Amino acid sequence: MDHKLDYRHSEIKNQDPIKTLKIEHLETIQRLEMIERSLQYLESSPSRTAMKRCKIEQSRLRTWVNELEGRMTLHFLMEEEGLFPTLSEYLGKEHGPIEVLLEEHTEIKAILSEWKDEVGVLSQSFFGSVRDASLQRVLDLGDAVMSRLRLHISKENQIIFKISEVSLSEKEKNFVAQKLQYIEKTHLENR
Ligand SMILES: [Fe+2]
Ligand SMILES: [Fe+2]
Repeated sequence: MDHKLDYRHSEIKNQDPIKTLKIEHLETIQRLEMIERSLQYLESSPSRTAMKRCKIEQSRLRTWVNELEGRMTLHFLMEEEGLFPTLSEYLGKEHGPIEVLLEEHTEIKAILSEWKDEVGVLSQSFFGSVRDASLQRVLDLGDAVMSRLRLHISKENQIIFKISEVSLSEKEKNFVAQKLQYIEKTHLENR
């Protein structure tokens, strides 16, 4: 277990579910920055001239995108089953911001899964036109995932989490915190 996860657990114990989800957003943004730097390197360096470094970057990229997909699956679940049901008492579920966020989860999950598969293909290929075509798909899908995810996170931080902080009672926050803890535990046990 890494330190970041330990930190997140301590926040859950503090019964502040919004802070927990905000920390996850911060960690996601940091991970996207690492991935972006790796993609920039792969885009700018022909594999023929820097084969060894390209191999390392492609392998790191695969690890990071796999981890990102796993973390986003759990994070979306924590929001969908942990926070949103309680928040919908205040905002409503249909034709409102929660419905928009749920649609974005579905869209991001679909592109992220496609990106993960393509990054897997790229990690096995080190030169030639097939590799170049795969890299281009990885770059295009990466742009799509990262821009959508950043916008989604910013929307949640600026709107949904602010509304949650002022609307939810302490009792509701504790209830959501316990649900987040349960969802995370169940998800990790069933992996
Ligand atoms: Fe979300
Ligand atoms: Fe989120």
